[in-house]
Amino acid sequence: MGSAVLGMDAVRKLSSINSRRQQISAASDLSLRRRLPRVLVVDDNPNTMSLMRDLLATRGYDVVAVPDAAQAEAEILRHPPDVVLSDVVMPGKSGYELCREMKENPATRLVPFILITGLSEREDRVRGIEAGADDFLNKPIFPEELFARVKSLIKLKEFTDELETAESVLCTLGLSVESRDPYTEGHCERLAENATNLGRHLLLEEEEIIALRRGGYLHDLGKIAVPDDILKKGADLTSEEWLVMKRHPITGETICRPLKSLRLVLPIIRNHHEHFNGSGYPDALSGQQIPLLARILQVVDVYDALRTARPYKPALNHEQAAITMREEARKGLWDDELVVEFFAMLERQRQVA
Ligand SMILES: [Fe+2]
Repeated sequence: MGSAVLGMDAVRKLSSINSRRQQISAASDLSLRRRLPRVLVVDDNPNTMSLMRDLLATRGYDVVAVPDAAQAEAEILRHPPDVVLSDVVMPGKSGYELCREMKENPATRLVPFILITGLSEREDRVRGIEAGADDFLNKPIFPEELFARVKSLIKLKEFTDELETAESVLCTLGLSVESRDPYTEGHCERLAENATNLGRHLLLEEEEIIALRRGGYLHDLGKIAVPDDILKKGADLTSEEWLVMKRHPITGETICRPLKSLRLVLPIIRNHHEHFNGSGYPDALSGQQIPLLARILQVVDVYDALRTARPYKPALNHEQAAITMREEARKGLWDDELVVEFFAMLERQRQVA
């Protein structure tokens, strides 16, 4: 009997192995399977709407179809989709407006948005790009093109979701470092808020504002490697203890470096203890050599530290903190211009309130 021909026993054994394999594969499929990707279709034409809904349903997507932007917004609030497919011209808000609003909202800006446009309407595309659309689909709709667009953008959404998760883990770690010192409660959140406000006051780009917010949570992440007795001592550290403490900017930068999305946050983490006159650490940078975002976070950080009581010092009121910071800026510790801008911003906030 040739080796290609199997006896009954061997066939039985093989089919039992195959069936076992299928069970294992089904079980691991189940355990690995995520929820169905959710697609939101927005189109006032009932025929197009039901065509897209039915086509996408055949590929296993969880599809919700609505006829206008108002209902789309309600649906997005109720259950955020993984991708939006929207017509341009609809009663009420247009597809452009819906897209622009989603892209301006931090909660929905990462949801991919596909605009459905006419074949030859180049102007539609230019307006769509300006509104922040991620991709376009031509009318008439070809199923294979629809599937390809939706599939690739859902993959992209999966990657950005994973990235967001990694970032939020790091920010949570930053908060856990803060919680080790009971005197710094709420410090990260105040820093994130004041730093983004100062960034907006200085008319920085949106990606820089986002970096400042993350910097508020991540700037002291490296303190995770500083032992409790040094961290809680605060003042009167020995020279050896200072050496350990002064490593935290580089430790924090090393932890965050693998995440490309934190590229703009790294200089904040590394250089938030530099001094304008070059007497700070870890790189002894001076003046404009210190990255702007690091100088911004530093000004906000110093103000918050002065306004907070510690075991070794009382909290200053706003006026006392302002006098101290201006004095320290004159002595060369902080960026004088940024200190002036920061207090101008706080003053404006106080007037508005
Ligand atoms: Fe620090």
